[in-house]
Amino acid sequence: MRIIKKEILAQTQDVTIKRFEILSPLIARKVRPGQFVVLMVCEEGERIPLTIVDKNSDIGTITLIFQEVGLTTKLLGKMEVGDSLYALAGPLGHATEIKNFGNLILVGGGVGIAEIYPVAKALKEAGNHTTTILGARNNDLLILEQELKVFCDELYITTDDGSCGRKGFVTDILQEVLSYSLSAIRYSLIYAVGPIPMMRRVCEVASDFKVKTIVSLNPLMVDATGMCGCCRVTVAGKTKFACVDGPEFDGTQVNWDELTKRNSVYLDKEKHICNLKISSV
Ligand code: FAD
Ligand code: FES
Ligand code: MG
Repeated sequence: MRIIKKEILAQTQDVTIKRFEILSPLIARKVRPGQFVVLMVCEEGERIPLTIVDKNSDIGTITLIFQEVGLTTKLLGKMEVGDSLYALAGPLGHATEIKNFGNLILVGGGVGIAEIYPVAKALKEAGNHTTTILGARNNDLLILEQELKVFCDELYITTDDGSCGRKGFVTDILQEVLSYSLSAIRYSLIYAVGPIPMMRRVCEVASDFKVKTIVSLNPLMVDATGMCGCCRVTVAGKTKFACVDGPEFDGTQVNWDELTKRNSVYLDKEKHICNLKISSV
């Protein structure tokens, strides 16, 4: 659970994204793409889920990439090489189905780009033709472009302000790629991770073209072992626990209004700052 490498991947006035390599030989040995860990920075702290972006089973490390959005991610960001997390549990959740689907599209928005990285790598290695669409607010916040290039047959970039790639949204490109595919390529799958409005819109576009779309959901999680019910989502009219039944689901079947509402329940309390200490070795 010791941090052995720390890097800032992106930084602007209001957003910081960091990459940590953490010693955890057992998780590194077991993890598969699409799975996540739950960690605690310190004993008094809360548990938060983060996707396992990469692993090195030879030296027993896992890689986490996180955006500092609130108290726990900011405390995590303050930890230094040599510090140890208070607790780390994983790998959790179902792994992504990896097989040769043929032609597929990966869509990543914001820090969701980190979450598509392990999936893009595994799907490429399984022989798929991969088209990847990345979206960020601006060029400074675009992460993993070079790393993902290696695993993409086609790579498109959009930024809200046009500072890199096309000005606009990932769904603009998705619409174009799918329209073109009507006469050329047949896509069997879309895999999307990012902010809820982005994933929702990707599913709307995909539905018009009748392409199956998998999304990795980010509901609030507490125990992440199926016991508390905090992460419940409605998919195809049925209640599912994202931590044990997901986090991936058929995006066209997700009740997005409910997920949006549930994720904002504690917004006022999340702004409350308290004084927690980081444990170190
Ligand atoms: P807070 O101020 O407490 O909350 C900010 C926002 O983060 C909330 O509005 C809510 O949307 C979300 N959040 C807060 N607490 C939790 C919680 N316990 N569980 C889930 N979401 C919460 N983020 C990354 O940057 N990188 C990742 O790889 C990543 N992977 C994730 C994988 C899964 C399966 C899930 C469910 C979430 C993932 N997240 C990831 C989101 C990350 O867990 C939240 O950003 C983090 O918990 C925020 O905590 P905070 O105390 O810093 O912020
Ligand atoms: Fe408690 Fe999923 S986080 S049931
Ligand atoms: Mg929090």
